[in-house]
Amino acid sequence: MREETFEIRPLCPAFGAELLGVDLSQSVDEELYRRIRAAFLTHQLLLLRDQDLSPAKHVELGRRFGEVQVHVMNQYHADGFAELYFLSNLDDKGTPSGKHPDKGTLAWHTDGSWRQVTGQATLLYAVEVPVEGGETHFCDMYGAFEALSDARRRQLEKMRAIHNLDFSRSRRHGEDPMSEEQKKAVPPVSHPVVRTHPETGRKCLFLGDHAETIAGFEYQTGRLLVEEINAEAVRPELTYRHRWLPADLVIWDNRCLMHRATPFDVARERRVMRRCTILGEVPQ
Ligand SMILES: [Fe+2]
Repeated sequence: MREETFEIRPLCPAFGAELLGVDLSQSVDEELYRRIRAAFLTHQLLLLRDQDLSPAKHVELGRRFGEVQVHVMNQYHADGFAELYFLSNLDDKGTPSGKHPDKGTLAWHTDGSWRQVTGQATLLYAVEVPVEGGETHFCDMYGAFEALSDARRRQLEKMRAIHNLDFSRSRRHGEDPMSEEQKKAVPPVSHPVVRTHPETGRKCLFLGDHAETIAGFEYQTGRLLVEEINAEAVRPELTYRHRWLPADLVIWDNRCLMHRATPFDVARERRVMRRCTILGEVPQ
């Protein structure tokens, strides 16, 4: 019998919670989903350990959160599911290839900010994890906004940033550039630097590594400003560092968190992650 209730254990003072007593290999009924959803909005990030989550169940759970993103970079599609994005450093023979699957994930970002409709939730599942490194770090963008002076808040509230996947990928990847067709599918978009979370009504910073410059500013001035605000946003006291165990599922809210992965030895260690990103809305 599946338990109808779960226990919530905070992960760090600023945000994040582990849910204990949930078995996602069973179907998630309306009441359980409602409670998970409420915890997700309150805590911004949920950790569920020891989950036997098949690709089909992963997509099924993702669909409960909303419309699932089919990523433009179709070389990453996992296990035949276009809704899943596969991050693995293993080659065809299943041995470490020495190549990082997505260097862009090593810089602080928010998933899908390069689209008009940005990422809402990401559901990341650990299949194989390295002994060292390959962590995921998260920082609280509500807290980052609240930590600013009134003057700085007013200044940033007037700004819109240009987010551009081609920019962030070209900068972070020496290899594997986007094809012309992929670039055409995702032209640069602008989003407010301070957004209001559509469900909680709280204000937060919204920027990250896909942001290239600030609309209406001279390019280089805007570029430097993006770097400055990104650096200002990441505060140790507002950061949760997740050390993965196999069968961990982490669900986070991209609207009010940024995240990054940390490096690992891609030639020796194995890291296989499965990701499902849920579309949100146009940031306001
Ligand atoms: Fe990401």
